[in-house]
Amino acid sequence: MSNTTSHHADRPIALITGGSRGIGLALARQFLQHDHDLILVARDETTLARAAEDLEREYPGRAVTPISLDLSAADAPAELFRRLQAKGIQIDVLVNNAGVGDYGPFAESDPDRLSAMMRLNMQAPTELIRRFLPAMIARGSGRILNVASLTAFFSGGTNWSSYVASKHYMLAFSRGLRGELAGSGVSVTALCPGPVATDFVQRSAVGGTRVYRWLSKLDPNAVARRACRAAMAGRAVVVSGGVNKLLAFLGELPPRGIARTVFAFLLRGNASGETLPERVA
Ligand SMILES: NC(=O)c1ccc[n+]([C@@H]2O[C@H](COP(=O)([O-])OP(=O)(O)OC[C@H]3O[C@@H](n4cnc5c(N)ncnc54)[C@H](OP(=O)(O)O)[C@@H]3O)[C@@H](O)[C@H]2O)c1
Repeated sequence: MSNTTSHHADRPIALITGGSRGIGLALARQFLQHDHDLILVARDETTLARAAEDLEREYPGRAVTPISLDLSAADAPAELFRRLQAKGIQIDVLVNNAGVGDYGPFAESDPDRLSAMMRLNMQAPTELIRRFLPAMIARGSGRILNVASLTAFFSGGTNWSSYVASKHYMLAFSRGLRGELAGSGVSVTALCPGPVATDFVQRSAVGGTRVYRWLSKLDPNAVARRACRAAMAGRAVVVSGGVNKLLAFLGELPPRGIARTVFAFLLRGNASGETLPERVA
């Protein structure tokens, strides 16, 4: 942690993974506007440090702490948690934004990159939430913003199968956890953007697909503005853009919604495995 401005004791702190570029950087600006200090996490130290310096210059007196970490490493979430605990830093808003998604036939994907993607897109957010959540529950307040994708509403993505499945996971996990946390003061919001004009399009080699060619790419700042507002208001899901909202709706037309409700009902039980009295006959 190399920044010079220290975190103000009374100011809430937002931790944003992938905060050095794209949607994460746009979210960083939004949370600064909502009077938060920031912790930004990404791999490339130079880009990250530049982002933190720029933000501190744009918002004088505010602390933006860069932490360079590869969140696809198995021990990275624990390491991040440990470092923040050692500094006595409390996280009020956790934004799980870092994500990658190589487009192409699954059978031709690089096995190591594939495993790293699964850890970054699913394991790291899950573990970060697991580690930061108890303190949020104890305080009776907290915001979790998970960046999923519009693709999460569709039940399969040919040639993008593992990425789409990872975003399904983020949406389903967000919704389930949100239910568990009802009344706790901690909210979970899933951000489901359609195509956004960021480096992701090139890096994931998805720019040539019809969905990325035919749908207009959203401005990351506009996406972040809505996402930040939705997270602070404790909303469940945020989809930007009229066409994207329609696609999200079509992707979940019943019976899927009904099936999810029935599944939630069937999943009721306690940790010992005993069923509750209201079990299905
Ligand atoms: N752009 C779209 O069309 C779109 C649409 C729907 C959903 N999304 C989702 O939105 C999120 C953000 O994407 P974006 O479009 O903003 O992408 P982006 O511009 O490529 O930014 C990705 C950010 O994540 C960081 N990152 C990547 N790998 C990392 C790792 N292993 N450990 C830590 N940080 C890592 C990057 O920094 P380093 O490379 O320096 O680590 C960067 O800060 C992703 O979850 C993506 O799936 C994007």
